[in-house]
Amino acid sequence: MSQLINGKEISAEVKAEVAKETAELKETKGLGVGLAVVIVGNDPASRVYVNNKKKACEAVGFRSFEYALDENTTQEQLLELVDTLNKDSSVNGILVQLPLPKHIDEKTIINAISPDKDVDAFHPVNVGHIMIGDYTFLPCTPAGVMRLIESTGTDVAGKQCVVIGRSNIVGKPQAMLLLHKNGTVTICHSKTKNLKEICLGADILVVAVGRANFVTGDMIKEGAVVIDVGMNRLENGKLCGDVEFESAEKKASFITPVPGGVGPMTIAMLMKNTLTAAKKQAGLI
Ligand code: GUN
Repeated sequence: MSQLINGKEISAEVKAEVAKETAELKETKGLGVGLAVVIVGNDPASRVYVNNKKKACEAVGFRSFEYALDENTTQEQLLELVDTLNKDSSVNGILVQLPLPKHIDEKTIINAISPDKDVDAFHPVNVGHIMIGDYTFLPCTPAGVMRLIESTGTDVAGKQCVVIGRSNIVGKPQAMLLLHKNGTVTICHSKTKNLKEICLGADILVVAVGRANFVTGDMIKEGAVVIDVGMNRLENGKLCGDVEFESAEKKASFITPVPGGVGPMTIAMLMKNTLTAAKKQAGLI
């Protein structure tokens, strides 16, 4: 039987740290912190994420600026808004919720966000910093995963770390963060051969493939730390991760639940990045 990693509790700790520092900034420097969140169209999942981000801003004492744009917004109109937000000193962080409608090129939009306000750490400049290991903004989900691993008391150094998934948002930056902590990292993906064998060698297994119950207990080494980044909705409406929880928890020493594992951490780390952005823009760090 494994121990559950409580993402709700750990994310609350992160948000409490952010709230405390935000209040101190206001009191000692008269400085407020603001996050602009832009959503284009009516994707229901995106709507839920954006609402949660807004709630988190309120909880930590940030100003939140929400821009809910029509599905038919043009790329030029969105670029204009990003430009305005780049120049607005009350906006410390800018987040454009992905995915965007098909007629808008995501790369063009991400590249237009000022790297200093890119609290997602998606801009190529920030991706480059992550690669070098010299970062202002940590990518939110991978940073949340690292904090969850840390909470188990596991030292990543020298461990076999397997990341399943190679997305720009999770898999690739996750591998870098594990590498920076001296893990021995393998990235697996849809073309990987002998996936089960590789997974069975993992002391730390991070799964971000977006397929319900993709990893089963027979792929997990006894005593492994298992982090499930997946969030899939089954036909019966139930949420489940990329890891089949029932069989996996019999093998893992620590495992994240879905929901209540990685999900809340992403937003907490976004708050942390936004505070960092504000401090950096004020010349405090
Ligand atoms: N869509 C799903 N996850 C994310 C995220 O972390 N940031 C943004 N901007 N869009 C997302």
